[in-house]
Amino acid sequence: MAEDLEKEYDMSINSQLKIAIDGPAGSGKSTVAREVARRLNVVYLDTGAMYRAITLKLVRESCDLSAPGAVEPLLERTVVQILADERIMLDGEDVTGEIRTPAVNAVVSRVAELPAVRRKMVRQQQEIAAVSKGIVMEGRDIASTVMPDAPFKFYLDAALPVRARRRFLEQRDQGLSHSYENTIDEINKRDRIDSERADSPLRVTPGTAIIDTTSLTIEEVVERILQGINLQTD
Ligand code: CDP
Repeated sequence: MAEDLEKEYDMSINSQLKIAIDGPAGSGKSTVAREVARRLNVVYLDTGAMYRAITLKLVRESCDLSAPGAVEPLLERTVVQILADERIMLDGEDVTGEIRTPAVNAVVSRVAELPAVRRKMVRQQQEIAAVSKGIVMEGRDIASTVMPDAPFKFYLDAALPVRARRRFLEQRDQGLSHSYENTIDEINKRDRIDSERADSPLRVTPGTAIIDTTSLTIEEVVERILQGINLQTD
């Protein structure tokens, strides 16, 4: 089934294959989006990694996020790149590991609220989509803002304790010492800021298929997305 789809897309509609996947932290977006992109042989873009890289820069420069005019000059001299192997570069430096640290987790949603940051990121993401033959892009505002014209839009969700548990296990595997309580607090706080911000908040847009991943495996979610694409292209 997945192999048939793979062939079909390789031969026909890869040139317009734009898939938007949004959802809160721990909903399984990254793993699922990466796998869908791999099977369809298209680009995968983790937009959260871009916000994390900008956040790292502002943290390193001890930028006062509430000071008017402090952020924009810094943004002008900041270059974020995502390489084909998913490494993330900040001003030419590989920061792939550092963008996942607790210091970045703690403030990334505050940075992502800033309209100047969003403008820069959205522009860059739209440029990447424009030059890609096909793309699976995941984040918070992909269907609403970055690729509103994407023919395939999905919103992944799961119960908060399940999302927190997934994230807690991921962090533990990476050797980051964090309690489950810390993790649940952190993603709860980020979810709130991400959904309540004025500029392109996390929300379900019309025409988006919602997938509750609470009791689904990664493979089951991937299959639902591939089936969703198939149905809509019949
Ligand atoms: O992996 P996780 O779901 O925890 O987060 P992420 O995708 O790495 O995104 C980190 C943060 O970046 C989110 O909590 C949002 O504040 C912000 N973000 C955003 O505002 N818009 C996006 N398209 C992607 C991420």
